[in-house]
Amino acid sequence: MKKTGWLVTLALFFAVPALRAQQGPPRRPTGPTPEQVAAAKRGETIYKQNCTMCHSDDLTGGRGPDLIRSTLVRHDKGGNLIGPVVTQGRPEKGMPSFPLSSAEVSDLVAYIDSELALFDMHTRIPGGYPNDIPASRLATGSAAAGKAFFYGVGGCSKCHSPTGDLAGIAKKYNPTDLEQRFLNPVGVVETATVTLSSGKQYKGELLLNDGFFVTLRDADGWTQTWPRSVVKLEVTNPAAAHEALLPKWTDAQMHDMFTYLETLK
Ligand code: HEC
Ligand code: HEC
Repeated sequence: MKKTGWLVTLALFFAVPALRAQQGPPRRPTGPTPEQVAAAKRGETIYKQNCTMCHSDDLTGGRGPDLIRSTLVRHDKGGNLIGPVVTQGRPEKGMPSFPLSSAEVSDLVAYIDSELALFDMHTRIPGGYPNDIPASRLATGSAAAGKAFFYGVGGCSKCHSPTGDLAGIAKKYNPTDLEQRFLNPVGVVETATVTLSSGKQYKGELLLNDGFFVTLRDADGWTQTWPRSVVKLEVTNPAAAHEALLPKWTDAQMHDMFTYLETLK
């Protein structure tokens, strides 16, 4: 299972950019680089030695929680959330601390990311996992209640419009994708401002913030890294509203919202 999993992932990493290339000029690079694949391989060894016993071989949990469906893991950006849990632990809750170096933590995170990508890919392949549920079975809520939530307490209309950016959204994505995207949008770019003790500021796309290092990429594509401890960091996350709402959705609200969004065809 593991072996075939890796093969399928590798095949996709190569196939997807090739398909993209045929469709026109490349956009942002997709899929991991060979370095990231190597890091994930090293991370797998660290995971097997330290984590499998509680989070299981396929990360779906055992004595410890399911990491695939963990909100914290899903919101991790380059180790910023996983890093502190691993190095500090939550001793009172049964999660030990591990004296791993920052390089080991990033390898571990690269491995966890690759497993998430693999899992998500399987859930999108029809017949792969029974997650490709037809819209008719998911759209069981009230579209009216969803609409009221959209313009009311949900605050969605502050940033979106059903006749603007969300027009035809239900045609654009299959049901599973749509559900995932309104709960936790994908491909959102976080930006940040780094201020050095001298007062000099740098702005750019936030590539890494793992508790040890901060890496920004500026508008010209140059990247620069600083130790986290010596800089002031201000992060702007355009999807912050989604992250704040994620733990608060009730099942009914989710069903209603999905049912409403399904009407936007
Ligand atoms: C002895 C069992 C044990 C081991 C070994 C262990 N964990 Fe955990 N882990 C737990 C428990 C229990 C929790 C839940 C703690 C809580 O409820 O806050 C947890 C929580 C976590 C979380 C937070 C999940 C969330 O959604 O809040 C992450 C991430 C995590 N572990 C990663 C790891 C990694 C990576 C390793 C290996 C380096 C590891 N754990 C090793 C038991 C373990
Ligand atoms: C503060 C602004 C903000 C609020 C409030 C907000 N969103 Fe979003 N939303 C975003 C951003 C940013 C994205 C990611 C960029 C994009 O795809 O538009 C996004 C993405 C989405 C997407 C995916 C769009 C796509 O094409 O992939 C959906 C669907 C969505 N939001 C629905 C909602 C719903 C429903 C609510 C209310 C519960 C909501 N949003 C609240 C900012 C916001």
